[in-house]
Amino acid sequence: MKTNTIQNLTNFSGTIIIPVFETYEKNIVPIAFDGLEIPAKVFFGKKDTHYLAEIKDNLHLFVGLGKTVDYKTLKTTFRRIAAKQKEHLSANVALVLPEQFTDDQVEAMISGLLLGTYDLGHFKADKKAHPFLDSDFTLNLVSEKDHLATANKAIKIAKAQLGVYNLVDLPPNTVTPKYLSTWAKETGEKYGFEVKVLGYDASKIAGLGAFLAVGKGSENEPQFIIMNYTPKQKVKSMKHVGLVGKGITFDTGGLNIKTAGMVHMKCDMAGGGAVLGAMQLIADLQLHVKVTAIVPCAENSVDAKSFLPSDVIHSYSGHSIEIIDTDAEGRLVLADGLSYLIKNFKPEYIVDIATLTGSSVGTFGYECAALFTNNVEMAKKLQDSGDAVGERLWPLPLWDVYKQDIESDIADVKNYSGKPVAGAISAAKFLEYFTQEHTAWAHLDVAGVAFGDDEFAKSKHATAYGVHLLTKFIENL
Ligand code: BES
Ligand code: ZN
Ligand code: ZN
Repeated sequence: MKTNTIQNLTNFSGTIIIPVFETYEKNIVPIAFDGLEIPAKVFFGKKDTHYLAEIKDNLHLFVGLGKTVDYKTLKTTFRRIAAKQKEHLSANVALVLPEQFTDDQVEAMISGLLLGTYDLGHFKADKKAHPFLDSDFTLNLVSEKDHLATANKAIKIAKAQLGVYNLVDLPPNTVTPKYLSTWAKETGEKYGFEVKVLGYDASKIAGLGAFLAVGKGSENEPQFIIMNYTPKQKVKSMKHVGLVGKGITFDTGGLNIKTAGMVHMKCDMAGGGAVLGAMQLIADLQLHVKVTAIVPCAENSVDAKSFLPSDVIHSYSGHSIEIIDTDAEGRLVLADGLSYLIKNFKPEYIVDIATLTGSSVGTFGYECAALFTNNVEMAKKLQDSGDAVGERLWPLPLWDVYKQDIESDIADVKNYSGKPVAGAISAAKFLEYFTQEHTAWAHLDVAGVAFGDDEFAKSKHATAYGVHLLTKFIENL
């Protein structure tokens, strides 16, 4: 796809998109554009409205933004235009950007337009390609200002998010641990980051006992993905960030099988997906930060070989873990991911992201992720980054009184308190145990926000939560 700046619409032929802030006044000022006057009674830029008009053979799409608009609403508004007006759109688009629009707003609009091309019908026979996916697709920005750099960034963000939509929405018989490690290798090759993968044998030799226990019941070989991005341009005192994402390609619960339904559990690699997407985006934007990322990928299945409740397993850190519940598997793969990251790479900042507990969904529902950290600076930076891109997060405590929930009689630690209370907190305390008292670690429990309902499909589907948030956080460091 191409981007272009044009000064006016003379000689333009294609779809013209005109975002309009709410202008309705008592004296009814009509919106005038290209010789057309829209009566204010019909359209005055109200939020969630649009107006279509054919002028000189060009389709004009007026998009109502309301009086003010935040990043997420703007992005969704433009996703809606691209997704729902598909038949009216052409592969040549002009986006009219009067001076009042900020770079962030332009970014949200353009990312949104591209996200609107997403088609959940991966396996449908009669798929009709979106006009924006045409190889000749051109986005012309009608503006006095130069928004091209912003536009190209917006495209990169949307590309990474679309990639993660695919990873999370594709079924678990497609997205196996091997699929994710192949994706990582191919993406690393294309965007410029190093990828190393430990399969079963290498993980066994390395001593990743907690990680391997989870995958024991599956035919699909676990894959421990290690990625490294080093900026081409070396800068003095370069920051080093470590990321870890839960990559459970399907969570049956294991022998503590999920009885309340497991149909959505292909989303249990969404934290890992967010880390993979963030790596693509960080490399694509060539951020000046060194990033090491780990995505431990395994399928939590039921089999004679599955790990057992009451098993004691040996983690990479050297600490033993008593298994109380095989459905608390995410924290096991993350424990080894965090220990491996800290021991081998010693990053300055660490963020892990995981669809970890139903408890976090109970607390925050589907609009906000749970944030755990003892580092005030990180809490602020993560929340500010989230607010800027419409990915909310809010803190829960890591007080040591909750440590007793994971104290085991037989081993160093146990993977579940056995009590149906404070589940997100005790899971976070379990992870903290494996961070070797690192002073800049944050954990994001995204069980409620990674996979959700919206207007774009009948069933729950991927949100790509975390891709932009993690990238923005790293960019803002
Ligand atoms: N993958 C689930 C958590 C989850 C819940 C993800 C809802 C997405 C949506 C996790 O592995 C799990 O099963 N957690 C259990 C832990 C419990 C057994 C200690 C839970 O939260 O119920
Ligand atoms: Zn589980
Ligand atoms: Zn899980």
